[in-house]
Amino acid sequence: MQFRSLFLGPCLAAVACSGRYEVGAENAVAGSVGTASSGSSASGGGGSARPSEGASLGGGSSSAGGPSAGGTGLVLNESCSFMSQATFQPPPPPYAPPSVVWGRISRFILDREWAPLGELPAETTPEWAGYIALQALAQTTARIGPTGPLRFLAGWLQLRPDDAAFEVNWPALLVSDVDAIELLLNTPLNGPQRVGIFSEPAFLVSHPSISTRGAAMSRALWNQEIPPPPTGFILPPPTPLPGQSRRESLDAAVSQASCHGCHELFDPPGYALEHFNELGQYREQDAGNPVDSSGELVVPLDGSTFYYTSMLDLAPQLANTCAATLGFVNANYDDAVVAAGLFESAYAIPEDYAVDRARVSGAFMLGERSYRALVKGIAQSEAFLR
Ligand code: HEC
Repeated sequence: MQFRSLFLGPCLAAVACSGRYEVGAENAVAGSVGTASSGSSASGGGGSARPSEGASLGGGSSSAGGPSAGGTGLVLNESCSFMSQATFQPPPPPYAPPSVVWGRISRFILDREWAPLGELPAETTPEWAGYIALQALAQTTARIGPTGPLRFLAGWLQLRPDDAAFEVNWPALLVSDVDAIELLLNTPLNGPQRVGIFSEPAFLVSHPSISTRGAAMSRALWNQEIPPPPTGFILPPPTPLPGQSRRESLDAAVSQASCHGCHELFDPPGYALEHFNELGQYREQDAGNPVDSSGELVVPLDGSTFYYTSMLDLAPQLANTCAATLGFVNANYDDAVVAAGLFESAYAIPEDYAVDRARVSGAFMLGERSYRALVKGIAQSEAFLR
């Protein structure tokens, strides 16, 4: 039962997820279904989360020694309680020379190697790296365009750079000090049923069908790498029969257990976007019947289940998950170390970088999930400093 490997169970114990999903020996994933977003790994099943019993993040007792994460109103589900004890410790020296560290930061945030912003210090310190990374981030919107964040978003949504023309200036919003996950998933857009970056036309058109949307969302949200069908081929969306909605047609096509066992893992988030046709246009009806964009979604990290009627009520539930929080950190970490030139691809990042990922998730949580805190944490990671 290889699908069990999709769950992130053990990542919980490791605080941050590290591994890559690999299908058996042939590692067919990378070749067939796209990106090398890492993160989901290992075997294990759902947990016993009770989402209703939320643990308020931070609460009153921030013993972390850093800025308090309390007061955000952010309520992650119970399996996330470890994150409320988030700490951040930069790695101890020795560090790479400032010119090397700057080169990494520049490629990560500015997407190419620019001349240093100001004189380089004699020696690298984590404080300098964090400071200069935030300076660079401010420059991306002020001067040369938001290159690093835009590259991340395009990769995260599996869009070709040319297709990443968003209605909303997400990079500009990201560099403000708001909760990045809440922002990306739960910002209302123009038009009915549009909420969050997954209802951007750029995403809906690049991923036009239920399964392609669901698979892309699962990868983005929790680095869930979807294995291709056993034979290695992926079918085109079925053509609905007269009077049949495309959801009914897909459900009929994948109704046998051998298909359903895999499709049920990633089709549900795709259902939530059924109010948008393959051109990303809003619709209320499909084949003469009201669109059914409702469903049931099992969160991989802890096995908790969400019920939703559409993206409108799914988005806020997703935004509060620990799995999406860790998934976002991992996706950013992967993007950053690859952009910085430290690894050829996310698949090349060794397992033991889990410690460094945990460090960055600590920084993100202490910073109330702001993108600036994440960028700073990455600049102060072992990968960037050593
Ligand atoms: C191991 C996982 C897995 C299994 C098993 C599997 N599929 Fe899929 N299937 C996928 C993935 C992943 C996609 C979407 C690929 C993408 O991102 O474009 C997909 C896409 C499809 C699509 C296109 C649907 C759409 O909305 O884009 C059809 C049709 C389909 N599969 C039919 C089947 C049938 C029939 C079976 C059983 C004989 C089956 N699949 C078994 C993983 C699986």
